[in-house]
Amino acid sequence: MEIKNVLVTGGVGYIGSHTVLSLIEHGYNPIIIDNLSNSSEKVLPRLEKISSKKIKFYKGDVCNKEDLEVIFKENKIDAIIHFAGLKAVGESVQKPVEYYRNNLDSTLTLLEEMLKYQIKNIIFSSSATVYGIPSHVPLTESDPIGKATNPYGQTKIIQEGIFQDFSFVHKDYNICLLRYFNPIGAHPSGMIGEAPNGIPNNLMPYITQVAVGKREKLHIFGNDYNTPDGTCIRDYVHVCDLAEGHVLSLKKLAQEPGLVIYNLGTGKGTSVLELVHAYEKATGVKIPYQIDARRPGDVEANYAATTKAEKELGFKAKFTIEDSCRDSNNWQQHNPNGYDD
Ligand code: NAD
Ligand code: UFG
Repeated sequence: MEIKNVLVTGGVGYIGSHTVLSLIEHGYNPIIIDNLSNSSEKVLPRLEKISSKKIKFYKGDVCNKEDLEVIFKENKIDAIIHFAGLKAVGESVQKPVEYYRNNLDSTLTLLEEMLKYQIKNIIFSSSATVYGIPSHVPLTESDPIGKATNPYGQTKIIQEGIFQDFSFVHKDYNICLLRYFNPIGAHPSGMIGEAPNGIPNNLMPYITQVAVGKREKLHIFGNDYNTPDGTCIRDYVHVCDLAEGHVLSLKKLAQEPGLVIYNLGTGKGTSVLELVHAYEKATGVKIPYQIDARRPGDVEANYAATTKAEKELGFKAKFTIEDSCRDSNNWQQHNPNGYDD
């Protein structure tokens, strides 16, 4: 079946907005629903400017059936990419009920509506967090699901389980679970990028805020891990590569019924210090830092096995770490306050 109209939930957010651009580039027609709980409406005119295309946007909540039904009645949706969700690890510890309610309700409501409107294709944003504390790296898709260290991670594990159980009985539905590693970077135009509220929890937005002078220095959480330089290792993948991964997954969905799972990462581990040095090299900006205590819950090393995504999807990350640093920096320099004026 040909996929043309793609509902992108959370399409105004960081990964969703970049994916909307990739979809347009590949001839799809993305339609966005977002409640703007963690994003800005200002993203839309920028997406339209970059793509030279009018984009249909519904301000609505994926947990709300009526909001979805308006879209399904007005448009023939062929597939859904489900980004909408709350994603801050620390906040999820403080607000577990909100996280479970939003992340689980949105997925359950979508599945109910997909049955009602016979929409048979969905891609879901999962996370490498489902592997828990890795006993080895690289992590392959057949490695067991681990134990979550926070409510956010638990919502991803439960959502994956919901999709598995759904797929068991609805065998004609095509489901793709994408486990992202650490998305960084921004669209090379510098017009869209990651715009966290308040103090960034994640490493790259913290570095970019140091680079523009919004923060004095980076705090590195621990240099006594069992890694070559003592700092933690992650798999940092450019958000535009991730976006392309969704387009490739859509093509795969159209070919193969059932549930499939892919890691989306580069397959390359980079330590915190290596990322800082790559940033300095790529941008010429010095990043002052100090070493602090370990952050509770951090895993030592985590990176993807990429063979399955490469073989079955044709996915291979193209951007280097330096490209990602350059693009993150470019975005932040042009938009020191994110989407706020
Ligand atoms: P984001 O917060 O930038 O985007 C999520 C979007 O969903 C936001 O625009 C928000 O307003 C919207 N939203 C949230 N709840 C909604 C609801 N009930 N109805 C409608 N809209 C709603 O986050 P992101 O970084 O783009 O992440 C997208 C997805 O990828 C999330 O599911 C996240 O958990 C997952 N993920 C992200 C990362 C990461 O490091 N960024 C890593 C792994 C997985
Ligand atoms: N770090 C610092 N200083 C900071 C921020 C981070 O030293 O100010 C370090 C962390 O200790 C860690 C590394 O940088 O070693 C990466 O941290 P991030 O917070 O950027 O990313 P995580 O790997 O901890 O978390 C990410 C996503 C989560 C997801 C998790 C597992 O943000 O949503 O990967 O997939 F659950």
